Amino acid sequence: MTPPGERKPLVLVARHLLAAGMERLATECRIVEGGLDATAERLRELAPGAVAIVADPTVGVDEVLLDAAGPQLRVVANFAVGYDNVDLEACRRRGVMVANTPDVLTNATAELALALALAAARRVGEAQADLRAGRWTGWDPGAYLGLELSGATFGVVGLGRIGHRYAELVRGLAGEILYTSRTPKPAAERALGASRVGLGELLRRADVVSLHVPATPETAELIGRDELVTMKSHSVLVNTARGPLVVAAALADALREGSIGAAGLDVYEEEPAVPAELLEAPRCVLLPHIGSATTRAREAMARLVAANALAALSGVEPPNRVA
Ligand code: NAP
Ligand code: GLV
Repeated sequence: MTPPGERKPLVLVARHLLAAGMERLATECRIVEGGLDATAERLRELAPGAVAIVADPTVGVDEVLLDAAGPQLRVVANFAVGYDNVDLEACRRRGVMVANTPDVLTNATAELALALALAAARRVGEAQADLRAGRWTGWDPGAYLGLELSGATFGVVGLGRIGHRYAELVRGLAGEILYTSRTPKPAAERALGASRVGLGELLRRADVVSLHVPATPETAELIGRDELVTMKSHSVLVNTARGPLVVAAALADALREGSIGAAGLDVYEEEPAVPAELLEAPRCVLLPHIGSATTRAREAMARLVAANALAALSGVEPPNRVA
């Protein structure tokens, strides 16, 4: 890509990229890495001259960072399938391509959603915390009684890649699978035995509700007080999608008041901050945004990031271009 004698193009890896991607990028590019604690200000200092920025869900790619990089910037390669951290319009206006890492993390994230559903339904968080704190005084026929998921109605909000895989995984447990989507999915309905309903009906009928839509202006606060009160009092809410989909204070109230049974969350609005009310809420399993955190998924994501960036820099369409 770089003619002999010319300097390799500069890539800003905003935070950190696994070796599986870094080694590939380094063959063609000079790399500057912000590190896991890089602030927005530090990234603006590092960006000038970069032709590519490798971002992730914690890195806001906004007008200021794009301008700091300069007019030679060609591509933002996001280390994630979600790209709500990137200002797509600002990129389009500057002729900067944007790419993400779909598919390779679908299994990992769907499996985590199932893990959260089971952990929340069976009160795994509280039970383990009690044991570790020495509060377990012996087998008790009435302690930690949870919800059995065999035969349950599963509600899948957003039947995209991850929602579909989650539905496949829960099929062996489910009495019924309901889903919401903007467009009907007849092939998926046949394959999964799933029925398309509106969000209101899904929330009223499901025993387990799992969120799989992206964070957009339309999905912000999708689940707030008005929605939570319509859910079954034993129901479980799982969010592996994005924090802004759920109003944290309303969820904490619903758990305290018993208007839903339990929750399992992997994502929060202002990560890494976790709302205090959720930390204090009962029957709530909280994980630190680890949906795609398997070795297989993360290494494949790193390779895709490199492939997307290098394609764009070679004048070829990136395999996972979103803008
Ligand atoms: P996807 O294949 O694009 O699926 C998203 C689905 O949401 C689409 O099928 C779309 O279906 C539906 N949708 C509903 N409202 C929408 C709206 N306003 N805009 C766009 N789509 C809308 O994405 P995916 O690969 O399944 O990933 C889903 C999300 O999971 C990501 O965006 C990300 O936020 C999150 N995620 C989190 C983790 C984690 O670590 N916790 C890991 C991976 C992904 P219809 O058009 O049919 O409605
Ligand atoms: C992670 O959150 C992703 O969107 O890939």
